Amino acid sequence: MKKLSKKELAMNRIEKHIDLFQCPVCHETMSADDSKLTCQNRHMFDLAKQGYINMVQQSKKTQYDQSLFEARQRLIQSGFYNQLMIQIESLLQSRNTDFLLDAGCGEGSHLAQILDTVDHQLGVGVDIAKEGIQTAAKTYENAQWIVGDLANTPFTDKAFDAIINILSPSNYQEFTRLIKDSGIVIKVVPGPNYLKELREQIFAGTNQEGYSNEETVARFKQFFHLTHRENVYDEVTLTEGQFHDLIQMTPLTQGIDLSSINFVEPITLDLEILVGKK
Ligand SMILES: C[S@@+](CC[C@H](N)C(=O)[O-])C[C@H]1O[C@@H](n2cnc3c(N)ncnc32)[C@H](O)[C@@H]1O
Ligand SMILES: [Zn+2]
Repeated sequence: MKKLSKKELAMNRIEKHIDLFQCPVCHETMSADDSKLTCQNRHMFDLAKQGYINMVQQSKKTQYDQSLFEARQRLIQSGFYNQLMIQIESLLQSRNTDFLLDAGCGEGSHLAQILDTVDHQLGVGVDIAKEGIQTAAKTYENAQWIVGDLANTPFTDKAFDAIINILSPSNYQEFTRLIKDSGIVIKVVPGPNYLKELREQIFAGTNQEGYSNEETVARFKQFFHLTHRENVYDEVTLTEGQFHDLIQMTPLTQGIDLSSINFVEPITLDLEILVGKK
């Protein structure tokens, strides 16, 4: 049998789950036809050749470019965040994960990996950076990738059983709208020692050397019952190539001459997982 193209695969997937989509412009229901999504008011969104859909009206230039997402993808694929993946997968294992959203999915590796291990009907990755979604769609076929704004996502109310939000901004009003009554939100935030070997070099002597996430936790609690929180801690030995990917892909080094950062090992992975329910 002929292998379906990425675009055909995506079209089949979207047709099957069309009830999940709504127009980001007028919020009407959508239909899938002729390689595009169209609402009752004729707002149209084309499927790209790689199978993703751009559903923002005006693309926004973000601080993240193609080479950053490619570096991020190589680093994640090398296993840098494996400990985080193991813990998220075990949190999801005993739950209904039919419809999963990765909000701010970047280049898609986390979601793709999670979908390989949990039962699901549909996984959707949304990010505002087109370069991230293109990189995701090029590499992974097991999710639907969408360029979208977390402030106004193209999905119906109560569409998802779980929302994952890893090291990305949140929009809690929108998450509350999107999550089923029985659903959960899993937010991952940096812990005080996250990438401390880089922070020590970049922020030496300033008050940014450490990091507290208590404000983030307090805000999360304004919207959700915090049912569980757990730490993720690992010390990861990187090759020099992987270290270079790390300094290239982290927002920490923005505006900094990368050649001024010295190779150090191991690197501390210190994160906190917050689990919330409505
Ligand atoms: C540090 S990256 C993390 C990406 C991914 N979750 C990961 O862990 O590799 C933050 C991501 O949030 C995305 N982002 C920022 N604002 C957004 C918004 N309003 N809507 C959707 N995505 C957004 C960025 O484009 C970026 O890909
Ligand atoms: Zn519309």
